[in-house]
Amino acid sequence: MTITKKAAFFKLSLLLLVFGCKAEPKEEEKTMTYAEELHSYAKPNTSVINHLDLDITVDFDSEIISGKATYSIKNNNADNIILDTKFLEINKVEADGKQTTFELGEFDEQLGQALIIDIKNTTKTITVYYNTTDKTEALQWLSPQQTADKTHPFLFTQGQAILTRTWIPIQDSPQIRITYDATVKVPKELMAVMSAENPKTKSPDGVYSFTMKQPISPYLMALAVGDIEYKAVSERTGVYAEKSMIEKAHNEFSDMEKMVVAAENLYGDYDWDQFDVIVLPPSFPFGGMENPRLTFATPTVIAGDKSLTSLIAHELAHSWSGNLVTNATWNDFWLNEGFTVYFEIRIMEALYGKDRANMIALIGRQDLDDEIESFKEEPNRTKLKLDLADKNPDDGMNSIAYDKGYLFLRTLEETVGREKFDAFLKNYFKTHAFSTITTEKFVDYLNTNLLEPNNVTFNTEEWIYQPGIPSNQAIISSDKFVNAEKALEQFLESDTIDTSITKDWTTLEWVHFIRNFPETMTAKDMMRLDDAFNLSNASNSHIAMVWFEQAINLDYHGNNVDQNIEDFLIRVGRRWYVNTLFKAFEKNGKTEEALAIYKKSRPNYHSVTANTIDELLDFNNE
Ligand code: BES
Ligand code: ZN
Repeated sequence: MTITKKAAFFKLSLLLLVFGCKAEPKEEEKTMTYAEELHSYAKPNTSVINHLDLDITVDFDSEIISGKATYSIKNNNADNIILDTKFLEINKVEADGKQTTFELGEFDEQLGQALIIDIKNTTKTITVYYNTTDKTEALQWLSPQQTADKTHPFLFTQGQAILTRTWIPIQDSPQIRITYDATVKVPKELMAVMSAENPKTKSPDGVYSFTMKQPISPYLMALAVGDIEYKAVSERTGVYAEKSMIEKAHNEFSDMEKMVVAAENLYGDYDWDQFDVIVLPPSFPFGGMENPRLTFATPTVIAGDKSLTSLIAHELAHSWSGNLVTNATWNDFWLNEGFTVYFEIRIMEALYGKDRANMIALIGRQDLDDEIESFKEEPNRTKLKLDLADKNPDDGMNSIAYDKGYLFLRTLEETVGREKFDAFLKNYFKTHAFSTITTEKFVDYLNTNLLEPNNVTFNTEEWIYQPGIPSNQAIISSDKFVNAEKALEQFLESDTIDTSITKDWTTLEWVHFIRNFPETMTAKDMMRLDDAFNLSNASNSHIAMVWFEQAINLDYHGNNVDQNIEDFLIRVGRRWYVNTLFKAFEKNGKTEEALAIYKKSRPNYHSVTANTIDELLDFNNE
């Protein structure tokens, strides 16, 4: 609202109040009220973007993206519009096709710079001519050596949480929603894909056109360029990967269609038409990223036995919790991730049964205990609702949002019963589809639509606004994990190993077994296990990671494990893995070893991973 409008509105309200009527905001006012935003310079209440036409060229020689971004704007009588930028060069700006003046605000380490563009109150479109720079944090440019096939370079973007502004000038708040069209020019040996309707084959001239017709938040803008192919799993699901990975990816993700069906049966139609996954090179900093229509995934989930595919269920679940109903601010991040973990585990249960679902939930439960322990000096960080003022939203990306969020929802489910809870969630997604939600709005909705109608009292406020875990938490148990714990005891008590005990173990049992080694365990015990199970050479990335962590903790050096740890850290850039291992070095006073490896591995990491490890190891790259 502009000042004059505000004043007029105030007078009108007063008038209505005097005459005893309730002042309802007019439709226009309703749609133009955005919550306060800590992580964007945009002032969407005065002028907001709603459609983007992107026209860019991807140049691998200079490692620069350049071109123009044209926005349709909703102009609420404003004389400027503010976009977020960071490490971009702005070359020229137009308003309705005519050059206009602009100003770049002061640079902030987290937020970048406001791009303030002068417009008229009649302006309907703005165009920004720009290029990225070598500092652009969203992009990772990979040499052929860093890819699976090793013959062509590769590029991918990572937008969440506030990195889209480093490759596109944009109003970079999750409250904003835009549709987009894009034209992307790439070298003709390569294919480009986006979080949009995608090509299934290469274009002869390297020019690709994209449309995203459903409105999405800017953090979900995504682009990948490489020598990739497509293979369909079903009519609406499939995989993109480099040639040497495509069959493996296709086999691993063969249950994708079943997952979508299970998800739809739970919480309503899949609203994005297509659900594909692109398997990226191993430096991708996350397990997965839920870019709409095209999830980005690490190749470390390809285990050969589908044992790590809950990650696909997770990213798919974000098509509802996150992409359809979006956290309004990063303080409400748990609304994205907690709901998604809950939904992920329900999809896994539907496909593979309760045993597997509960094992996944218990792994998260242990992560949650570890996280709460790690925050024992800063208990406020264990609240679901965050306070990220002056902080990078990345600080909220920990087990609290995911696993405390999950536990809260599971506890709610067990309190009201699954049937009621499912009906509630289905309605929640439907009611808030293509909009954003704050924690407070959710609490309201929960009270009105689930708790009050069912006469249930529940300590929602404690779960959301207090640190730690409330005592009414759901208790999760797994016979399979109890067996794994027994096997561990037995093994530590006797000299021999009965390998038949582990014969039917899945990845999850192995992970649980390894993670629960007692502190009294010795390097010699590790050696016995390694001789029996060759864990230092585990091909499953999750098992390898937890085993490496224990090798570092327990000073175990047999079976080439040190070299394997180093190779793993150089090849894989998945932040969760990398961070876990470097933390183990650090915690055990092995900082020198960590730094020696990090010097070699850092050049392979995306900025997201490098920033985390720089901070952890106090590493100064200058
Ligand atoms: N949306 C997240 C990744 C993310 C969060 C990126 C915050 C940047 C900021 C994604 O859905 C996710 O949670 N990935 C997890 C996998 C999952 C199975 C828990 C990951 O990458 O480990
Ligand atoms: Zn997630």
